[in-house]
Formats: sequence, C-alpha cells, structure tokens
Amino acid sequence: MAEIQGKVSVSEAKRNLRAQPCTLVIFGGSGDLASRKLIPAVYNLLLDGALPPDYAVIGVGRHQMSDTEFHASLREGIVKHSRQPLREDRWKEFTSRLFYLAGEFDDAGTFQELKARLEKIERQLILPGHRIFYLAIPPTSIASTSQGLHQAGLVQPANNSAPFSRVIVEKPIGRDLASAQQINSTLSKVFDESQIFRIDHYLGKETVQNLLVLRFANGIFEPLWNHKYIDHVQITVCEEEGVGTRAAYYEEAGALRDMVQNHILQLLCLVAMEPPWSLDPDVVRNTRLEVLRSLRPITGADVNTYTVRAQYSPAVIKGVEVPGYRREQRVRPDSTTETFVALKVFVDNWRWAGVPFYLRTGKRMPKRTTEIAVQFRHIPQILFNADLASPLEPNLLALRIQPEEGFSFRIISKLPGSKVQIHPVNMDFQYGTAYGAASPEAYERLLLDVMAGDATLFMRRDAVEASWEWVTGILEGWQKHGTKWLPEYSAGSWGPVEADRLIEEEQRRWRMP
Ligand SMILES: NC(=O)c1ccc[n+]([C@@H]2O[C@H](COP(=O)([O-])OP(=O)(O)OC[C@H]3O[C@@H](n4cnc5c(N)ncnc54)[C@H](OP(=O)(O)O)[C@@H]3O)[C@@H](O)[C@H]2O)c1
Repeated sequence: MAEIQGKVSVSEAKRNLRAQPCTLVIFGGSGDLASRKLIPAVYNLLLDGALPPDYAVIGVGRHQMSDTEFHASLREGIVKHSRQPLREDRWKEFTSRLFYLAGEFDDAGTFQELKARLEKIERQLILPGHRIFYLAIPPTSIASTSQGLHQAGLVQPANNSAPFSRVIVEKPIGRDLASAQQINSTLSKVFDESQIFRIDHYLGKETVQNLLVLRFANGIFEPLWNHKYIDHVQITVCEEEGVGTRAAYYEEAGALRDMVQNHILQLLCLVAMEPPWSLDPDVVRNTRLEVLRSLRPITGADVNTYTVRAQYSPAVIKGVEVPGYRREQRVRPDSTTETFVALKVFVDNWRWAGVPFYLRTGKRMPKRTTEIAVQFRHIPQILFNADLASPLEPNLLALRIQPEEGFSFRIISKLPGSKVQIHPVNMDFQYGTAYGAASPEAYERLLLDVMAGDATLFMRRDAVEASWEWVTGILEGWQKHGTKWLPEYSAGSWGPVEADRLIEEEQRRWRMP
C-alpha cells in the first residue's frame, strides 16, 4: 500500500468545518433512489463520523407506512447497497432519527403535516431548523412540491440570519432547453439560485474530483494540456445492462439526454476547462460554463457528420439470449430511441483549437466502464519512430472513473536485453490498492457538500441550460435530417460500424477500455 503523505485538501478541511446540523427531508423517501443511494449514503456518513451529530431524516412518499415499516423497508436497501455492512448497534441509533410521512405532493395538507412533524422532531432532537429538501421525485412533481413547501412557509429566504433552506434537484432537469428553462423558472419562484443544488452524481465520484487535482496540483500536465501536444480526447461511458425496468423513462430519453447532456458534458468540462483563479464554487462553475459555451454547435444536417446513434440488436451473451431494444418490455416496436450515441465534438477556443473530443455512450456494451483517455500527439518519425510501417504508440493518459478507479499513463520503454527493443508500458495507479479503503460513494460526498453549503460540484442554472441548448440543436437536427431506422449493434459489442467510421476516417481508433 502506498504511503500517504501530505496534507488534507483545502476543500476537505473546509467541508469538515462547515457541515451543519440539519434535517434532511427526502421527497420520494419510499422510492428506488432513496433506498439504493440516499439512505445508504447518510448511513455511511454516520459510520464514518462525517455526519454532524445533530441530524434527522424524514422520508415523504405516497405509500402509507409507519416509521417502523419505513425502517424495515430501508434495511433491505442497506444490506444490498451500502458500502459498509449493516451494524445492528449503529442501525438502531440511525433509525432513532429516521422518520416517515405519507402524503400526496399536490395536496397542501401534506405540507402542513410536514411542517408540524418537522417542528416536533426538531424540538425533540434539539435541531437548529436548517433544512435540506431532496426532490427524489418525478420531474412532473417538482412544481407542486416546491409550491407546497412555499405555501406552508417551509422555505426561508436566502442570506438571512434564519436557519437555511436548501433544495436538491435530481436529473432529468427537462428533456430539452424549453422544458429545462420551465423547471428552473418554477424552482426560482420559491428558491434563490444559491439555495438550489442540482445534482450530477458523476461530479461526486472520487476520480472525477481528482481530475482537477491531477491537472492543477501537478506541474507536468498543464504545460502539455492543449492543442499543441494533445491529439484527441475520448470519453467513454459504457453500460453492460440493457434498458431493464427503466424502459418507460428511457423511451422518452435515449442515450443523448440520459448520459451526454449531463454526465459526459460535465466530464468534458473538467478535462477542457481553464485553470480557475480560485476554488470558490462560483469561480469553478464559471470556468466549467465557459467550456459549454465554447462547444461548436452541431445542428441541421451536420448531425449526420458529427453524430452516430444506434440501437442494440438481439444477441447471445455468455450463453444467454438477450432481446434487441425494440423487443424489450414497454418499448415501442418501431422505437427510434437511441441506446448508443457517438459524437465528434470541438471546443472552439484557443487551447483546444482543432482537437476532437470523441464521446461515446451506450447500453448493452461489453462491460460497465467509464473512462477519459487523453491521447498525446505522435512523436516525429525519426530515431526510435523511424519505421513508417509500425509507428510507436503515442503517450496516453487514461483516467478510469469506474470501476477500479485510478489512472494509467502509457509511455514507451526499452525491453530489458542487449538489443534495442521498445514497447509501450503503463504506469498504473489504482485508488483501491493505493489507499486501501473503498472510496466514499458520490452521494455521500455530495450530501455532505449540501450540508456545508458548498455548491462547487453542483450544476448552476446557466450551465444546465447551456448544455441543453447544445444538446437541443442535435435533437432537432436528428428530427429533421436523421434517418427513421437507426443503425444497430449487437448487444454485447462496442457499438455500430458507423461509430468506428466516425473516428477511423481520421486514422484514429476507439480504445477498448
Ligand atoms: N433511481 C435512480 O437510480 C435515479 C438516478 C438518477 C436520477 N433519478 C431521478 O430521481 C427521481 C426519483 O427516482 P426513483 O427511481 O426513486 O423513482 P421511484 O422509485 O418511482 O420513486 C418515486 C418516489 O416519489 C414518490 N411520488 C411520486 N409521485 C408522488 C406524488 N404525486 N405524491 C407523493 N409521492 C409521490 C413515490 O412514492 P410511492 O412510491 O410511495 O408512490 C416514490 O417515493 C426521478 O426524477 C429520477 O429520474 C433516479
């Protein structure tokens, strides 16, 4: 195991100081996200001693349940999904601060009851009244829920001396620019922008946060991090699963909306952004936003040159027959929803002039993996690289976001022996091996940030709308100029041949991460 030297990061120290005692109200407390991610995240923060000692969690959902039934339903989620195992003593302690309220989000009575319940719990547990409202609910319920909170007087204005009110909003924030603007306007009637935390859990992943540290806490990368030395960048987000039980949602979304508009564009921003002049949340967010604003639009018939979309077709994977997308349950037999998309993207600014960013995501790919690969330019064709028939592999920095978080750097080295034989080798770093313990889940980190009021890793309204504006151009282009029947790729393969052509026409090729 690596010896860990040095100091705690600035942001870590800041957050530990500032996480405030508070009440977390999870709207959608009886839902999938709450049981798989949110409650396990709070439980793990408790086990790690990272949670402020004075806290309470209230789940709100439609199901009628007592607190005890709520605990029982969540216990299963902890056993299945928690990073650390269930410990009876700590679970008992945790559930003593875990409550449930049943109610409809479009019923004012729900919010009056919530108010009374909150006041009672906060009095009993001597909590200061800071409240975080987590909207783990369908986007169609955002308006009624935020209005309900407002009308019940549950939202304190920002920047006053009263206890804080913050709201966390889940994706999807809209399905195009207009609907995203509508959701944002609805929220802004009740909450100030400084109170709104739009979550993109990719930003909470350890390797994603490390990207900025890698770039701006090391001397060797930044001087090379531009069009003079970087040939291209690939961002790949592959899922092994098919559409599964999420078909109803996915049919309306597709890969571009589901993955590119949020997670992949955020990764691209972190790779391409300029050095921020401070770590202040808004400075970092302004710098990320500049990348979104520099994206070259892909509109009209250009979609056929710069994008490829496809659907998976049936195949036998590890001896099991899997259906094609259009045969999945709750998918229309003539669906034109893409389960795979590849794009060639340019960031039109000085640093990145002419450097293609190849983005790719799909379902039913060979494995679940997320990787950013930064490929440096080829060296001149002299000395060790003089053989035109077999040029040396260029240097490559591969950042693995999941699984097996870490990074590797490909360099060319000499094989031991009297002859000069040269070969690429990888300098490899793995979080798990280097630091021993599993990294905290993204939701743990992000919940703690909201408790501390640190919005660095959350999406500001302007960024959400800038990314939707760019994506909407592509969606409209597909609608007007796209073909009805999408190309297909065999389930379990790396995507359609059209995606290979997109990159190979410039003598590059996709990595097999
Ligand atoms: N699940 C994930 O991994 C995931 C990941 C990223 C984003 N998200 C987003 O997070 C949100 C929630 O997802 P989910 O998977 O947890 O959905 P879900 O399993 O369907 O849960 C929805 C929750 O909202 C409650 N609810 C819905 N409409 C309601 C109403 N009118 N009144 C009262 N309660 C209502 C449900 O209560 P009952 O069940 O009691 O009816 C349930 O607790 C969605 O926007 C989703 O896109 C989810």
